[in-house]
Amino acid sequence: MNKNTRIKLNDGLTMPVVALGVWQSHEGTKNAVLTALKNGYRHIDTAAVYHNEKAVGEAIKESGIPRNEIFVTTKLWNDDVRSGNTREALKKSLENLGLDYVDLYLIHWPAEGYVEKLQKEGLTRNIGVSNFRKSHLQNLLSKVHIVPSINQIETNPQMVDEETIQYCKENKIGVEAWSPLGSGACLNNPKIQEIANKYQKSSAQIILRWLLQKGIVILPKSVHENRIKENIDLFNFVLENEDVELINQLNQHKRTGPDPDNFDF
Ligand code: A2P
Repeated sequence: MNKNTRIKLNDGLTMPVVALGVWQSHEGTKNAVLTALKNGYRHIDTAAVYHNEKAVGEAIKESGIPRNEIFVTTKLWNDDVRSGNTREALKKSLENLGLDYVDLYLIHWPAEGYVEKLQKEGLTRNIGVSNFRKSHLQNLLSKVHIVPSINQIETNPQMVDEETIQYCKENKIGVEAWSPLGSGACLNNPKIQEIANKYQKSSAQIILRWLLQKGIVILPKSVHENRIKENIDLFNFVLENEDVELINQLNQHKRTGPDPDNFDF
């Protein structure tokens, strides 16, 4: 595994295993994306509701990197899912990004709605979902023709939804971790710090490497150059199984974000 490693999705397309997340990057977004691209990231994860697609698009253009070398994800907001306004919403995102297509379009929360036609039209290469638990996926799969290629869920040492991850594996749905660092909350965990000392790595690197070794795509967010670099510098060490297991034991099913079974927006 190296920073150019890509996982194969269920439709044969591939995705780089490390992305830059830009939720809450605010006015630091453009600079963060430029910094990430300069340091080897080729995967950027945004959403309509983050209101920073324009900045992401500007950075991609300014980087000079060919479009087809960068994997871009954005997400469809709940109101547009429920109203069926999906094509207009994706067109708006593409206009903001200054792109003809995105690589992955995700239904942001498990609101009922369909996006299959957008893939057929070529506006997105892949379609997927976010924040779907096993029951939401079961409901979806009973109604659609295309199995989502990805489910992006909150995953970090204190929050692992094993049941959903197992269901995704069984159904060839790739798993991406949002808030892989628990929005920073996992960094001070003494066990993680102990393991970090053992490998002479930062707590962030230990957590991110743990997720990669579990086959999960990561999208750490940072607006700081040193951290952006650190968060993709994960390929010159391997966690021993016993350390993977120690981190597995930290799971408390404790979310930093909303509960997908009970969200009201
Ligand atoms: P910042 O953007 O100021 O660097 P998550 O990806 O789990 O949501 O975590 C993001 C949070 O963790 C942000 O507050 C970010 O702050 C911080 N962060 C990201 N990378 C690192 C790192 N390598 N070391 C310490 N904090 C980090």
